[in-house]
Amino acid sequence: KLSIADVDVSGKKVLMRVDFNVPLDGDKITDDRRIEMALPSIKSVVDRGGQLILMSHLGRPEPGEDNSAYSLKPAAVRLGELLGKEVAFASDTVGDDAAAKVAALTDGGVVVLENLRFEKGEKKGDAAFAGKLAAFADIYCNDAFGTCHRTDASMVAVPEAMDGKPKVVGFLVEKEITYLSDAIGNPKRPFVAILGGAKVSDKIMVIKNLLGICDKVLIGGAMAYTFSLAQGGKVGKSLVEKDKVELAKELIAAGGDKLVLPVDTHCGDDFSGDCNKLVVKAGEIPDEYEGLDVGPETAKLYADLVKDAQTVVWNGPMGVFEMPPFDAGTKAVAEAIAESDAISIIGGGDSAAAIGQFGLDDKVTHVSTGGGASLSMLEGQAFKAVDILDDK
Ligand code: 3PG
Repeated sequence: KLSIADVDVSGKKVLMRVDFNVPLDGDKITDDRRIEMALPSIKSVVDRGGQLILMSHLGRPEPGEDNSAYSLKPAAVRLGELLGKEVAFASDTVGDDAAAKVAALTDGGVVVLENLRFEKGEKKGDAAFAGKLAAFADIYCNDAFGTCHRTDASMVAVPEAMDGKPKVVGFLVEKEITYLSDAIGNPKRPFVAILGGAKVSDKIMVIKNLLGICDKVLIGGAMAYTFSLAQGGKVGKSLVEKDKVELAKELIAAGGDKLVLPVDTHCGDDFSGDCNKLVVKAGEIPDEYEGLDVGPETAKLYADLVKDAQTVVWNGPMGVFEMPPFDAGTKAVAEAIAESDAISIIGGGDSAAAIGQFGLDDKVTHVSTGGGASLSMLEGQAFKAVDILDDK
């Protein structure tokens, strides 16, 4: 795809879709990685004298309600700090303030528009709303990897409305897609995927797709208990999806020895760090206990499989990693990945938070900024939001 580096931006208005959907505590950003990772594209426009209009969503606000908690203002402030220069903020998205601040932009200037999802046209992919955004600019750039699996107006209808104007990809989207598609499309073997998280239903397509590509698919997290139920195991009070047991049986049959399930479970009699704890064989969880992490034998088995791998993709924690001692399984997997020489790609969301919590971010090849977007790639899905951009 045509890249932001390929177009002359000097004196031009560049409308860049970024994913500044960052976690907030009041107006304090608790993790600004998504803003930092967008800096290369942002700086590329600013340094070449472009006039940059940034747009993003934050959270899932309801249009028309009091949405002050979802304002993008903190993100604009943080970006100003990171860039070491003034960043304007428009208190609306396509209204008078946005129009005035866009018109007032000078070369090298930056304005952040208010949350796209304050407008109902954004989620609806509305053409009239998209037309107003499109009218602001000469060039469209998509650098919102975390949102690439969405077809919201700013991702699809806006570039569609900018007929005849360059529509380019940003550096972050380029980098994320290259890492993930190289890992999946042309993996060095053995290729091991580690999938965790609460629900089988979130990962069905990922498991199916990866069973066709990987040498081993290791399962952890609460979804392992649905698989255990499918094998006739006892799962006590563990979180399970009863309506997915048949599907879990099919996946077990299809996976053969590629699909690796936990051999033991670390469980507790309450969802808390100081509950009574027990390590049992998988499928032997007592009635009054729930599984909260993979057990030590599983942690060792998974760590050994990771050590032999040349490519590792990890998405989803092995247990309740926020609540020691049930972080042990996730930590063992994270450390094995960090120690291995394999190309390692960590999916966004919880696994990215876990790798950060253990201080291992810089020991892995790539930590994705996308949660749902990286899962979509692991499912083998194409992104309409990227397909519609200009080819080189
Ligand atoms: C994410 O955090 O996964 C992206 O920002 C997309 O957000 P959404 O799931 O609310 O569309």
